[in-house]
Amino acid sequence: MLEIRGLEAGYNGKAVVRLAQFTLPRGEHCLVLGASGSGKTTLLYTIANLLAPVRGDIVLEGENMAARRGRDADSFRARHIGIVHQTLHMVNAVSVLQNLLLTQYAAGIRQDAAAALRWLERLGLSAQKDEKPVSLSQGQRQRLSIARAAINAPSLILGDEPTSALDDAACENVMRVLLEVAAASRASLMVATHDRRIERHFQHRLLLEGGA
Ligand SMILES: Nc1ncnc2c1ncn2[C@@H]1O[C@H](COP(=O)(O)OP(=O)(O)O)[C@@H](O)[C@H]1O
Ligand SMILES: [Mg+2]
Repeated sequence: MLEIRGLEAGYNGKAVVRLAQFTLPRGEHCLVLGASGSGKTTLLYTIANLLAPVRGDIVLEGENMAARRGRDADSFRARHIGIVHQTLHMVNAVSVLQNLLLTQYAAGIRQDAAAALRWLERLGLSAQKDEKPVSLSQGQRQRLSIARAAINAPSLILGDEPTSALDDAACENVMRVLLEVAAASRASLMVATHDRRIERHFQHRLLLEGGA
C-alpha cells in the first residue's frame, strides 16, 4: 500500500504539487492526470524518492521513504519500485540481458539470469538479449524498460507517459504488458499521462491542477 500525507513536491524548497492525503491499496492502479507542467513527473519522481519532498510523508509497504536518503534510498527504491521513464535510461555499453542483471545487482538481489530471460521472453525480446539497448526499435526499448521495472518484483510500478507517443495498437500492447507485469508481483501501477485512451484500465484517478 502507498500512503501519502501532507506532501509538497517541488524544487529548491518551492512546491509545484501538493497532495494532502492519498492512499493506493496494493494491487490497485491509479492514473495521474493533468496538463503539461502540472507536476506529474515531479510527483512520480518524488514518490520514487529520486527527488526529495519539500515536506510530507510517502509511506510504501509501511516504510517512510522520505526519511531515507543516499544509498539507503537507492537500495529501497531498487527493491520496491519499478520505474518506466519517459525516455529510456539504459546502460548502452552492455547487452539487453546484462541491463536486467545490473538492475538485480543494484537492488542487492541475487543475479538470476533465468528470471531475466523469462522476462525477455514474455516481453518478446528473447532474440535481442545480446544486443545493445541502443540498437533496439522504439517499441522494443519500451518493452525493455518495462522488463527492467518488473524484474525485482516491485510493489509499485511508476510510468511517466508510457503510451503518449504510441499509435493505438502499440498503446494497447504497452498497457497489456504493464498490467501483466503489475499482476505478476501484485504491484500497483501509477501512470502519469494525458492519454485518455488508457483511462479505463485504472480504478483511481488523481487530477493535478495547474500547468499549461
Ligand atoms: N528540475 C527542475 N527545477 C525546477 N523546476 C522544475 C524542474 N523540473 C520541472 N520543473 C517545473 O515544475 C513544474 C512541473 O513540471 P513537471 O513535473 O515536469 O510537469 P508535467 O510532468 O505534468 O508536465 C513546471 O512548472 C516545471 O517547469
Ligand atoms: Mg512530465
